Amino acid sequence: MSKKIMATSFILMLVGLMVISCGKNVQLKEKEKQSPLNPNGDSELAIVMRTMMESGKQMKNEIENKLPPSAYPEEIKTITTAKPTDGMIEDRNVFNGFANFHMATLDSIYYKDVDQKVQFNHMVKSCVDCHENYCHGPIPAIKKLYISAR
Ligand code: HEC
Repeated sequence: MSKKIMATSFILMLVGLMVISCGKNVQLKEKEKQSPLNPNGDSELAIVMRTMMESGKQMKNEIENKLPPSAYPEEIKTITTAKPTDGMIEDRNVFNGFANFHMATLDSIYYKDVDQKVQFNHMVKSCVDCHENYCHGPIPAIKKLYISAR
């Protein structure tokens, strides 16, 4: 076996570990819901993210059923300051660029005379865009939020 192949499989292994550690949390979600006070050392940001997932599911359901989307939880606004898992965010300014854009897309769902389905899908895209830079694990779950054109 060449050194090159060994190096490649080592890198693949590292990538695999990273994906699992950012994805593992998602599988733990149900269990942790019962103990929201953070016994496993989950970061503030991770906890807000779970709220965002729940809120996103509810909003999708409302829009699909042609109901006005309920107000999103205020706590989502804390993504620009919430403490992340150590080492997750290198440059807060860069992160907050994604975060502020996300908030703008979220707010736009509530504007007058917009196609809420379209705006909602922009909002989901902004989740995916940020995740592609920081945390790949939850991306498949986030993509399930997209409302398909019908
Ligand atoms: C500005 C960047 C950004 C945006 C926008 C964003 N995320 Fe995240 N998300 C992260 C980061 C970074 C983490 C890892 C947090 C940590 O471990 O501290 C994360 C973690 C998560 C997790 C795993 C939480 C856990 O249990 O550990 C879920 C689920 C999630 N995000 C869903 C979403 C959803 C749904 C949206 C959109 C409604 C979204 N995210 C938007 C950056 C973002």
